[in-house]
Amino acid sequence: MNFTQEIARRRTFGIISHPDAGKTTLTEKLLLFGGAIQEAGAVKSNKIKKGATSDFMEIERQRGISVATSVLAFNYKDKKINILDTPGHKDFAEDTYRTLTAVDSVIVVIDVAKGVEEQTEKLVSVCRMRKIPILVFINKLDREGKDAFDLMDEVEKKLGLQVTPMSFPIGMGYDFQGIYNLWEKNINLFSGDSRKNIEDVIEIKDIKSNELDQVVGEKAAAKLRDELELIQEVYPEFDRDAYLEGNLQPVFFGSALNNFGVRELLDCFIEIAPSPRPKDSDTRLVKPDEEKLSGFVFKIHANMDPKHRDRLAFVKIVSGTFERNKPYTHVRLQKTLKFSSPNAFFAERKEIVDISYPGDIVGLHDTGNFKIGDTLTEGEMMNFKGIPSFSPEHFRYINNADPMKAKQLEKGIDQLMDEGVAQLFTLEMNNRKVIGTVGALQYEVIQYRLEHEYGAKCSYENFPVHKACWVKPDDAKNEEFAEFKRIKQKFLAHDKYGQLVFLADSDFTIQMTQSKYPSVKLFFTSESE
Ligand code: G4P
Repeated sequence: MNFTQEIARRRTFGIISHPDAGKTTLTEKLLLFGGAIQEAGAVKSNKIKKGATSDFMEIERQRGISVATSVLAFNYKDKKINILDTPGHKDFAEDTYRTLTAVDSVIVVIDVAKGVEEQTEKLVSVCRMRKIPILVFINKLDREGKDAFDLMDEVEKKLGLQVTPMSFPIGMGYDFQGIYNLWEKNINLFSGDSRKNIEDVIEIKDIKSNELDQVVGEKAAAKLRDELELIQEVYPEFDRDAYLEGNLQPVFFGSALNNFGVRELLDCFIEIAPSPRPKDSDTRLVKPDEEKLSGFVFKIHANMDPKHRDRLAFVKIVSGTFERNKPYTHVRLQKTLKFSSPNAFFAERKEIVDISYPGDIVGLHDTGNFKIGDTLTEGEMMNFKGIPSFSPEHFRYINNADPMKAKQLEKGIDQLMDEGVAQLFTLEMNNRKVIGTVGALQYEVIQYRLEHEYGAKCSYENFPVHKACWVKPDDAKNEEFAEFKRIKQKFLAHDKYGQLVFLADSDFTIQMTQSKYPSVKLFFTSESE
């Protein structure tokens, strides 16, 4: 297979949802179809196994949430699928936002009874901002839920999407009979058995024919005909370009737990979902089929074993091929690095690979060279855009609770921040360190990991900050900037890249500051362009 074909066959995507909608179950069923795992339950039991051997995962197990983002790759038909798993828990949302910089499309899972939930809204708004193609899977059709049309309305209104159903349920809950597949024009009957043979699909070329009545009964057939007519009137026809541009979102119905509607979803997905897309850098747009390698780090995973402190940096390949032992340029450090054991990820294992293609994720062993957002190239000095830090929602001073371990604490904080666990701000006035997080849970994770991985102890102290605003002084008038710095000195800090940050205690303060010092521009993410 040549380079272009390798790119064209890749599908790199994320599955996002509010916790409990069925993301893990759907992921597992997709892996089953790909032959990547042999039995249902493998994904979850894998999680628990890890939990038994690593302290950090113990937290995950106790809390019942998935903390870490992982990559699951498998082949299905002629496609290479890369699923980037994302933690659903809101306290780890930033991890998910960063993963969304590395996907080419997403599948959103929605619970048919609960409808659109809070976390779904947040994550979808990030996808919309980035114009990521979105496909919607409405799950748990074996249960009583909302009416399919009402639910599609809700998806449109709350998520700001324009949907078009690609499949449609025949009944629901107790009366759930199956799915009419508008894409393939056939019916898949539900037997309520999760080991159901996936081959017995009934072809219905003409929904007006008697065959439909025989298969689902007269009443359900009449209802389905009315519904399909309504769909034709109300929803636009599927248009791939509109989907790829982020302007149209196909919807599927099914039950992940019963392995129902999942094959339909996957078969359609691999046809319509985008292969790796071009990505913007600070100097130019980089296309996947360019010969030279480029890629960026979107995730750093700590090695949980305190004896082996090396970490794994996850690199998304944007263009060219990544080859083992070939020298690459680490743009930020202006350093040449070679990697003798780059990892590729499969469902249940990782393995050393000689060559990876655009869309793939490689895991590089790292002893401290990488930070989130770092770019690798073959010499070109450019940086990929779109991996900003968002303002944290919680802020606390971090204090050293064991004076003998000051060095360990510093190193631990430094490395955890490189991993993107939280954000560190150093106050200009007195050099005190402030940790900002998206959720309160991260403080516990940090404390736990500092102790178990670095042998350091910390305590926290409240710091009443509402929002971090990045300050770009370049355009500011000199006097105005000096005045701003003098008046706000107690609230000025530097992030870990040395950028100036104003820690504001309320929206009111932000407004007042903006009107008083109009030339001092405040930004709510670290990337101001
Ligand atoms: P998440 O990753 O989005 O958080 O959700 P997950 O897949 O873990 O699913 C959450 C719960 O919903 C699980 O039940 C799962 O079995 C159930 N579920 C997933 N898909 C379906 C479906 O199509 N129909 C029905 N009825 N249930 C579904 P649980 O009781 O929390 O966990 P478990 O003990 O069953 O594993």
